[in-house]
Amino acid sequence: MDSKRSISGFSKLSKRGKIKWLVENFFKDRESVKRELMSYWHSNEEQQKILDGFSENTITNFAMPYGVAPNFLINDKTYCIPMVIEESSVVAAASNAAKIWMKRGGFKTTVLGTEKIGQVHFLWKGDSAVLLDAFAHIKSDLLREAEPITANMVKRGGGITDISLIDLTQEMDQLFQLKASFETCDSMGANFINSVLELFSTRLKALAADGELFGDQPQELEVIMSILSNYTPDCLVRAELSCPIQDLAGVAKGMSGEEFAHRFHAAVQIAEIDSYRATTHNKGIFNGIDAVVLATGNDFRAIESCGHTYAAREGRYASLSHCTLTDGTFRFWIDIPLAIGTVGGLTSLHPMAKRSLELLGNPNAEELMQIIAATGLAQNFAAVKSLVTVGIQQGHMKMHLMNILHQLEATEKEMKAAVAYFNDKIISFASVRQYLDDLRTDQTIVA
Ligand code: MEV
Repeated sequence: MDSKRSISGFSKLSKRGKIKWLVENFFKDRESVKRELMSYWHSNEEQQKILDGFSENTITNFAMPYGVAPNFLINDKTYCIPMVIEESSVVAAASNAAKIWMKRGGFKTTVLGTEKIGQVHFLWKGDSAVLLDAFAHIKSDLLREAEPITANMVKRGGGITDISLIDLTQEMDQLFQLKASFETCDSMGANFINSVLELFSTRLKALAADGELFGDQPQELEVIMSILSNYTPDCLVRAELSCPIQDLAGVAKGMSGEEFAHRFHAAVQIAEIDSYRATTHNKGIFNGIDAVVLATGNDFRAIESCGHTYAAREGRYASLSHCTLTDGTFRFWIDIPLAIGTVGGLTSLHPMAKRSLELLGNPNAEELMQIIAATGLAQNFAAVKSLVTVGIQQGHMKMHLMNILHQLEATEKEMKAAVAYFNDKIISFASVRQYLDDLRTDQTIVA
C-alpha cells in the first residue's frame, strides 16, 4: 500500500489543509495546481460556505456551463429555459426545436399524477394471517402516530394518501412490505417521506412487541429497511407536439412535410422496438431533462433511475416518446415520471437554482414538471430530426472543432483559418493538431 496516499482525519483538515495534502501527494506542479484549485473558489466567502455545505471534503467548485434556451411556448406561455450541461450542441438543439414549434402551436403539457411512494420492508416470523388480520388496526395507528410529522404537509394540501400491506412471501420467505403513497405538494419530499417511513418502522416494531395486537404472544418482526422509492410511475407528466403533417414542410431543408414525418415516425418506431436504439433515444431525452433538473437544483440521479425503470415497465426497455401519423396529423409525445420540487432542498439553497426558478417565473412543482418534460421532448425532437436528415455529426463536429482549438490554445486568427479549412474535412484531435502545427511552422518560416 502507498502510505503517502492514504490519510486518517482528512475530513477534519481545513480546506487549505486538504489542498496542501492533495498537492503534496498527488501532483507534480504543486504551486500551480494549488492556485488552480483555489481559483475556482467563489469570490464571496458566504456563497462559498453555502456551496461547501452541500457536500463533504470539498476543496473547490467544479464549473459547468449554464446556458438558456429561449422561445419555448408551453401551454401558450413563453419560457426561457435554464440548462446546465457540458455537452456541446444540446442547448442549441433545444432552442432550435423550440423555435420550430413556436410557429406550430408550441408544446401542450398536462400533469397526469403527483403520487410519491415509500416502502418499509420487514420480515414477519409469525403466522401471515395474523398480520393480515391486524393490518387495519396497524394502518390507523401509523396514520395517527405520523400526525406530528405530517401536520404541516397536510396544511399545504398533502400528506400520506394511503398505506397498504403487500405479502411478498412468495418471492422471499417471511417478507412483507408496507407501501405508502404520499402527496408532497411543491417539495420533492424525500426527507418528509423518509422521516414518515422511519417512524412507521419504529411503530411496527413496537406494535409487534405488544402482545395485545397479535394475540397473547409478542410476535417477531424484523424491519430490514425503510426508504422512499425513486420509482414514481404515478408522478407523471405528458408533453405533446402536434400539427398537420403538411405544416412540417420547411422543418428539414429540401424535405416535404410528408417525407419528414415518415422518416421521423420510422425513427421513433425503431426506438420502440429496439432496446439498443431506445437507450440512445432516451439518452437524448435526458440531455434536455437533466440539464433543467440540474439548473433548478433537483436530483437528476433520481429522475434518471425513475425514467429508465419507466421505460422498461412493460418488460422490455423501450422509447419514452411516441409518434403517430393519423388523419393527416403528426403527433409526438412523451409520458415521463418526474418527482421534482420547487421548494426545499437545493432548490432554495443553491444561488443559481434560485435564479433558474426566477427565470422560469417561480413555477410550482407541477408547472416545473411540465417545463422539464417539454424540454426533454424538444431535445428528442431535435436529435431525431438531425438523425433522419443531415445526421448529428455536422452540428457536433463544429463544436468539437472549437473545443479542440481551445484545448490547443489556438488564437482567434488560427481559429478562423481552421474553421474554413475543416469545412469539408474530417475533424479529429490529431488532424486539427497537425493543421495547427503546420500553420504555426509556416508562420515561423514566414516571420
Ligand atoms: C447525443 O448526446 C444524443 C443523441 O445520440 C440522441 C439520439 O441519438 O437520439 C443524438
